[in-house]
Amino acid sequence: MQIFPRSLNKLPLVAGAGAALALPAVVFAVWYWFSPWYTDVGYEPRQPVAYSHRLHAGELGIDCRYCHTGVEKSPVAMVPPTQTCMNCHASVKTDSAKLALVRDSWKTGKPIQWVKVHKEPDYVFFDHSVHVSGGVGCVSCHGRIDQEEVVRQTQPLSMGWCLECHRDVKQNQGASAFIRPVSQVTNMEWVRKSDEVVTPPRPLNPPENCGGCHR
Ligand code: HEC
Ligand code: HEC
Ligand code: HEC
Ligand code: HEC
Ligand code: HEC
Repeated sequence: MQIFPRSLNKLPLVAGAGAALALPAVVFAVWYWFSPWYTDVGYEPRQPVAYSHRLHAGELGIDCRYCHTGVEKSPVAMVPPTQTCMNCHASVKTDSAKLALVRDSWKTGKPIQWVKVHKEPDYVFFDHSVHVSGGVGCVSCHGRIDQEEVVRQTQPLSMGWCLECHRDVKQNQGASAFIRPVSQVTNMEWVRKSDEVVTPPRPLNPPENCGGCHR
């Protein structure tokens, strides 16, 4: 007499196949969710000095380029040297405890050890100047820095993310949501009026070929 239906004879086989699939599935999930696409967004390391973009770039309205002097003319935006802070803090808040490390750095000449937030791997070629001069605003890649007390990565900076914009810009040029007038690149509040088309400074042709970004 048969207790179990015949179809259940296949059960061990099915279970085995399931187990064989489960392991790669777990590996894939771990690789996917813990890869930079997911883990880097939200990265917000503690900095040695409680410098606030919300105060300086937001409330005081200091332009990004006053401190990030490389952003229009070189691959790197650069984090400002202590001297830039002392342009003001030699006379502003001279006895603040929050600025003690800044004053020490100025006296000793030892740079402040700011912790890097946004970082591409070495095999990726990225140049700020070509983006900024093409009409891509800081806010597209860094979010509302002017509202942040502590800098936080808001975009994945992954290959898919780079390519999504490159494709859109190549196709839509000045009608792309990623392009604004060059005069507005550091303006965090600029918004395009509905169906406003921007005239890009040059015909835009961002690379989609591998060698464009992996040189
Ligand atoms: C253009 C002038 C200017 C520059 C440049 C500047 N700051 Fe400031 N900073 C200010 C002003 C104004 C305040 C607010 C003072 C107040 O609250 O009355 C301030 C406040 C601060 C505070 C808070 C101090 C406290 O006791 O609350 C810190 C920390 C600080 N700045 C760090 C920096 C650092 C680091 C740099 C360089 C990267 C820098 N600042 C560059 C003008 C400047
Ligand atoms: C008064 C100087 C000053 C101004 C103005 C300023 N920044 Fe910064 N910025 C800094 C300093 C100092 C750091 C490094 C410490 C930190 O991350 O908070 C920094 C860090 C950053 C970073 C992160 C760098 C990294 O390690 O990845 C970004 C992105 C950035 N700034 C964008 C902007 C943008 C966009 C604006 C204009 C809206 C701006 N900053 C205005 C001083 C400034
Ligand atoms: C097209 C995207 C994009 C735009 C637009 C952009 N950034 Fe960046 N930014 C990045 C990436 C990607 C990195 C990391 C670069 C690396 O690790 O090589 C970065 C890094 C930085 C850093 C860290 C220091 C450095 O130079 O690596 C600062 C500061 C910064 N950006 C400021 C700015 C400011 C200010 C603007 C606007 C004037 C701006 N960025 C516009 C993508 C962008
Ligand atoms: C928000 C839109 C946007 C994002 C995001 C973006 N780019 Fe671009 N990229 C552009 C535009 C616009 C140009 C300028 C094209 C031109 O001038 O023809 C460009 C040009 C380039 C170039 C050509 C520069 C040269 O010197 O030949 C490279 C390389 C590049 N991007 C790499 C990247 C990488 C890597 C990322 C991601 C980390 C990225 N881009 C993210 C819009 C973007
Ligand atoms: C617009 C710029 C851009 C182009 C074009 C591009 N890549 Fe990438 N690629 C990136 C960035 C940025 C990363 C780093 C991603 C990260 O760290 O999250 C990357 C990472 C990679 C990696 C490592 C992936 C990993 O999982 O670590 C490989 C492999 C790669 N790219 C191959 C290619 C090939 C092949 C092409 C052409 C079909 C190509 N890339 C075109 C920007 C680009």
